[in-house]
Amino acid sequence: MADSMIRLEEVIKTFPGADRPAVDGLSLEVGRGEFVTLVGPSGCGKTTTLKMINRIIEPTSGTIWVDGAKATDMPAFELRRSIGYVIQQIGLFPHRTIAQNIATVPELLGWDEARIRRRVAELVELVGLAPEMLDRYPSELSGGQQQRVGVARALAADPPVLLMDEPFGAVDPIVRGRLQDEFLALQRELKKTVVFVTHDIDEAIKMGDRVAILNIGGVLEQYDTPDRILAEPANDFVAGFLGADRGIKRLSLIPLRSVDLPTGAVCDVSDTPETAREAMLAQGWDWVTVLDGERLLGWVWGSELEGVSKVGEATPRPFRVTVDAGATLREALDAIVNTRNNVGVVVEGDAYRGILTLDLLTVELTR
Ligand SMILES: Nc1ncnc2c1ncn2[C@@H]1O[C@H](COP(=O)(O)OP(=O)(O)OP(=O)(O)O)[C@@H](O)[C@H]1O
Ligand SMILES: [Mg+2]
Repeated sequence: MADSMIRLEEVIKTFPGADRPAVDGLSLEVGRGEFVTLVGPSGCGKTTTLKMINRIIEPTSGTIWVDGAKATDMPAFELRRSIGYVIQQIGLFPHRTIAQNIATVPELLGWDEARIRRRVAELVELVGLAPEMLDRYPSELSGGQQQRVGVARALAADPPVLLMDEPFGAVDPIVRGRLQDEFLALQRELKKTVVFVTHDIDEAIKMGDRVAILNIGGVLEQYDTPDRILAEPANDFVAGFLGADRGIKRLSLIPLRSVDLPTGAVCDVSDTPETAREAMLAQGWDWVTVLDGERLLGWVWGSELEGVSKVGEATPRPFRVTVDAGATLREALDAIVNTRNNVGVVVEGDAYRGILTLDLLTVELTR
């Protein structure tokens, strides 16, 4: 890659006394502004790899470049300034307040107090923490709040590179999902170069522009975009790691918005019953979706239009299940499998976008 931000070349780490390397000949390139997830089973060398990038651990052999310079040739303080690190298990300092925790790197860099205070206030807002938490200690925060502090601390000196070691590992799935969404939104603005470690393949697929799948012994089994990994796993290890539901997982990569949705039988409140009946006939339906301009009002039975002069004289019922166009196909599938006819009405705000059926999802899967 022409503009790589992090490059590992044939990196090996053998810990003293170990009979095999923890990381064995790892070569990996991360582009500027790219979000790479590093995923693999426990003990496969993920943390070791991150720690070699910021030189908490020295490689046994091989070379690591950060922003065009050999990491081993850079003074450690300079390297540290360009790399934010979110350590595994959050690792906040228990006897320092939240504000002091976040200020760790700026203090090391010798910023003056006023500048540090401004930056801490900014970061607290950025990661969605309440300012009154600043004077508390880590044990007085929930797991999710502590993880936000961990991210704020890593971002403090605005480094171009972020290394994140299971940053959302210690929270329940719902909080985790929210932290993931928030961080993705933040990343769209910050455009950091991110190496994000997880052992959760779903998280890796959701978060990464590319996913690096490591095997025990720090062996890189596949490094590619989530879609290509799911569509063409390189070998049995990768396929096994992805799980039997990798077809369904692919659906989570496709935005509903990208699918051409049929509109079904649809009419406007101002239409005559005849127009509505033609729309139903064309689809073979005995009901019709009613719109007011773009706005979705609901649906009526064809029989309810008998004797009225305009569709608007009948009272439309609301659809029980609507899916927002911003959802992924995976989320849309979840929404419609539980409906009686496996059909979902897609809306954007209150505007009608079309009808999603299971058949349509199947077509997308086999693309
Ligand atoms: N300081 C160390 N001294 C000796 N061996 C180590 C050291 N740190 C890690 N190891 C070994 O290196 C291997 C890789 O460890 P590492 O912490 O990188 O795994 P990991 O992929 O981060 O695992 P997890 O998902 O459990 O966090 C393991 O076998 C571990 O026991
Ligand atoms: Mg680890």
